[in-house]
Amino acid sequence: MDNPGPKAIINLNRLKENIQNIIEHVGDTPICCVVKANAYGHGAIPITQTLEKEGISLFAVFSIGEALELRQAGIQSDILIFSKINANRIQEAVDNDLILNFSSLGDLNIFEQFESKYSQSPRFHIKFDTGMTRLGLDVQDADKVFKAISKNPKLRCEGIYSHFATADEGELSYAHHQLNMFNSLVELGEKSGLSFKFIHCSNSGAILNLPESRFNLVRVGMLMYGTMPSDEVPNNVAVKPVMNYEGTIVNKRRVPKGTSISYGGIYVTDKETTIAVVQAGFADGFPRPWYTDGYVGYQGKDYKIAGRVCMDSFMVDFGDDTPEIGKNVLFFGLSKENHIPVETIAKNIDSTTYVLLTAIGGRTEYFYRD
Ligand SMILES: Cc1ncc(COP(=O)(O)O)c(C=O)c1O
Repeated sequence: MDNPGPKAIINLNRLKENIQNIIEHVGDTPICCVVKANAYGHGAIPITQTLEKEGISLFAVFSIGEALELRQAGIQSDILIFSKINANRIQEAVDNDLILNFSSLGDLNIFEQFESKYSQSPRFHIKFDTGMTRLGLDVQDADKVFKAISKNPKLRCEGIYSHFATADEGELSYAHHQLNMFNSLVELGEKSGLSFKFIHCSNSGAILNLPESRFNLVRVGMLMYGTMPSDEVPNNVAVKPVMNYEGTIVNKRRVPKGTSISYGGIYVTDKETTIAVVQAGFADGFPRPWYTDGYVGYQGKDYKIAGRVCMDSFMVDFGDDTPEIGKNVLFFGLSKENHIPVETIAKNIDSTTYVLLTAIGGRTEYFYRD
């Protein structure tokens, strides 16, 4: 048993199929692949390298640190950073040809001062808040910012964007309201003399739900990892889960009826049964609340998680079946014998696929298959 701990098996062939199906779906619209948060728990470097070979030339991360990691790994494509700019790291962004996020009126001074001091400007996209009430320039500051940028052609404004709050929901009136506001902002910017190379506000939900919001770039995250952003969007792009999350059976024992399992002793066997120990726990990102109704997959069948998930391990009730020590069980994903959608777990424990995938870490070992 080389690695008895949790394993994330990353199926790069599925990632390639998913992105090709998304490309087909959006037609000529270029794609920005969102690989922030360690590519949603899948490993940012191998995921980005694979997508770059598939022809993607723009990626988005959250922090400058994430962007530099990609550059150090040899990623040559454009990289957009979503986070608030750090005035002390602008030179680093310029040196590494990163695209920054212009997201508040105060950022105007930062970009202007940098340009006048060094006769250089980082590339940037202007982000507007149209309804997330998160990072983004306030609509009332648009005119001032557009005029200032159009007066100084040395400022390298390459894009304008916003982010939807509800694009993955069945009821889209709020998304339409955001889209209308965004359309007006683009119009105002163009009237002020700016010409935006990239205009974008679609995420996975909008790609599926709001084709009219594609402009000339879409940003795709969750869908490319093979997971639906929610169960309210039309399932009209064929994708398969890129990750299989698995763990190994490290112990098993036959126990009599009335045996209590794990912390709190809340799971008590109602007959003689086989209880196995799997070495993965909530410290590795295994979703702890999933023990109530949760199960794992083994050789084509589902088996109940027995008792509370511990920090480093949990138990599985195999009944009268005989699991083998050293064999793997599937936590979620699609294997040859089992299928447990991460969406099912998210729904059951009142969480989201985004939370579950980005939580994976701890002692998890990554294996890349092509
Ligand atoms: C600004 C921004 N754009 C795009 C995305 C990608 O969203 P999704 O994974 O739903 O495609 C995110 C993800 O949270 C984001 O924050």
